[in-house]
Amino acid sequence: MLSEFLISHITQLRTQPPMPLHRQLYEGLRAALQLAVLKPGERLPSSRELANDMGLSRNTVVAALEQLAVEGFLCSRVGSGTYVNEGVAKTARRRPPALAQQARALSRRGQELATAFSAAELEIQPFTPGLADFSAFPVALWQRLQNKHWRMTYPDMLDYSYGGGHAPLRRAVADYLRLFRSVTLDLYQVIITSGTQQSLELCAQMLADYQDTVWIEDPAYWGAIKAFMATGLKLHPVPVDEEGMAPGPQDDKTPPRLIYLTPSHQYPTGAVMSLQRRHQLLGIARTQRAWILEDDYDSEFRFDGPPLSSLAGLDTDERVLYMGSFSKVLYPGLKLGYLVVPRSLVEAFKQAHYDLNRPGQMPLQAALAEFIAMGHFASALRRARASYAQRRSSLLAALKPCLVRGAWISGAEQGLHLCLRLPEAVDDSAVARRVGQLGMTVRPLSAYCMQRRDLRGLVIGYGYAPLQAIEQWGPVLAKAIAAELTHAKEKAAA
Ligand SMILES: Cc1ncc(COP(=O)(O)O)c(C=O)c1O
Repeated sequence: MLSEFLISHITQLRTQPPMPLHRQLYEGLRAALQLAVLKPGERLPSSRELANDMGLSRNTVVAALEQLAVEGFLCSRVGSGTYVNEGVAKTARRRPPALAQQARALSRRGQELATAFSAAELEIQPFTPGLADFSAFPVALWQRLQNKHWRMTYPDMLDYSYGGGHAPLRRAVADYLRLFRSVTLDLYQVIITSGTQQSLELCAQMLADYQDTVWIEDPAYWGAIKAFMATGLKLHPVPVDEEGMAPGPQDDKTPPRLIYLTPSHQYPTGAVMSLQRRHQLLGIARTQRAWILEDDYDSEFRFDGPPLSSLAGLDTDERVLYMGSFSKVLYPGLKLGYLVVPRSLVEAFKQAHYDLNRPGQMPLQAALAEFIAMGHFASALRRARASYAQRRSSLLAALKPCLVRGAWISGAEQGLHLCLRLPEAVDDSAVARRVGQLGMTVRPLSAYCMQRRDLRGLVIGYGYAPLQAIEQWGPVLAKAIAAELTHAKEKAAA
């Protein structure tokens, strides 16, 4: 009965360009929950039975069931199989249905954090922005290095890491930043963190008090929004134009304590901050005695235009805190990044980082330091750059039919995503949903906006899918968007 329902649902999906099989099965199971074909408390057939009934591999079935378990729809009982969770509402919404009920138990801040902007559900599909090609990571080499460092580990390496992290890794980071990002720095200014998210939280905790103002780009990176909400700051959105954050006289009325920027490749519009704007913001930081938090999350991948210095590289007043991450170049689950702190703040930051975060993972840091020192990081970067450049060109070529229908592209010079801007009359969320029905993920630009209502577009990633997939799916994506653009134009004319 269940497998018949699933087969019929999947057959419907198959009439469209195919999604990965496990995703199709996942969607089918979601529909079964929604339509009460599967009821709360009901036991599912085993993965082996489902695989046999449906002619699928067991891995495919397990992947779909695991995803539903992670999302709270299913649970396993040892020795007795997989069940539909009792709490699953008929609607089987994307978010755990209990969220509204939980709200009463949460602090006001907790409620805001649970409901405001958030990481969209991780969908590993062609064009999902924010994803790099993890399959390119040299796993075997990494394993060898990790084994070596575990063998060499002495007891102190198993302690919390004091002093900002493993010195060889901090040295490698400092050398890289001096050479490629024009940052003038001393080794002791580098603190290894568990990534940009932790760097942002540390800066907010150390430099701003409750209800102090942080200027944030509008549209903005949700991770930064959440970090500032969690630390009780007042967010002041400042619009972004094609030169990056564009503060005007009205913003002077809300002077900042912190200014959060992604100047190399604004997230998500992709705007590259002009030199003039960089000086303007450094000037504001100087006169307001504010701190700039520079999130340089994807500067390693620059394809067009002259190389750009970081904002930290232009800073003569030590008002910029620079942060980078290994999430894009290596892989996000590594959970390692770095923060460069002005000299006057180093000791306070290191102490607070130690007290608040109890950092560790020294053998992992040692393996990464050697990975960089042996030149593997540079060659991984070179390979990735060449490969992403091809994917980017293929996507740009595929999107051409949209450009003659009123769309335009921003932010394709750098990084792993670009932004296809759409005319204001187009509902970008509806276009993204339509694309989603075809088995691809793109994100609507309006979903990243805090205050403004004038931006429409699609944030499209080219980091995850291999070139062949982009060549195959790019025209499908472009056709779907072009159809929506034509439709919107006809509607406006009617
Ligand atoms: C704007 C921006 N900053 C930073 C990061 C990386 O953050 P983390 O080091 O916390 O993984 C991302 C990842 O998607 C990002 O989009």
